[in-house]
Amino acid sequence: MTKHLIKLKVNGEPYEVAVPPNKLLLDVLREDLGFTGSKRGCDDSSCGCCAVLIDGAPMLACVALASSYQDCEITTVEGLGTLDGLHPVQSGFADGGGSQCGFCTSGFLISTKALLDRNPQPSLDEIREALSSNLCRCTGYMQIYESVKLAIERAAARKAANPAGARS
Ligand code: FES
Ligand code: FES
Repeated sequence: MTKHLIKLKVNGEPYEVAVPPNKLLLDVLREDLGFTGSKRGCDDSSCGCCAVLIDGAPMLACVALASSYQDCEITTVEGLGTLDGLHPVQSGFADGGGSQCGFCTSGFLISTKALLDRNPQPSLDEIREALSSNLCRCTGYMQIYESVKLAIERAAARKAANPAGARS
């Protein structure tokens, strides 16, 4: 099958990948580029495990054709923070008990990041709505909502400490 060369920026780094027209973005990220944090859960857009940000907007990579995202900027869970400097959504979920087996966690982190980027102080209803496409079999969701609240506090504290540089 004919392959097309596509250029993507993933977590701030430029990549060029030769992909067949039907290759999914999730497969390009995981197989070609090694970003395995995004998970394959259902493969039919019903679990949210594969969520990534594309030009800042949350998107399900299991139903996105990679060839449609030429020159786009993609953020996976690997791009949120570092081991020495966790993103507030990462530290919120780690300390709030929002992750148990962890399979769903990257999707929840990406959806939470997208929420806080557009609404730094969401209500519980807004949190529930923003995470309604992400499924978790382990936590019962209450710890997830508590983790998001912790992330909100930490993102606000980080912004207050560094108003010019901090993002949610
Ligand atoms: S694997 Fe993409 S939504 Fe489930
Ligand atoms: S923590 Fe196991 S599925 Fe969510």
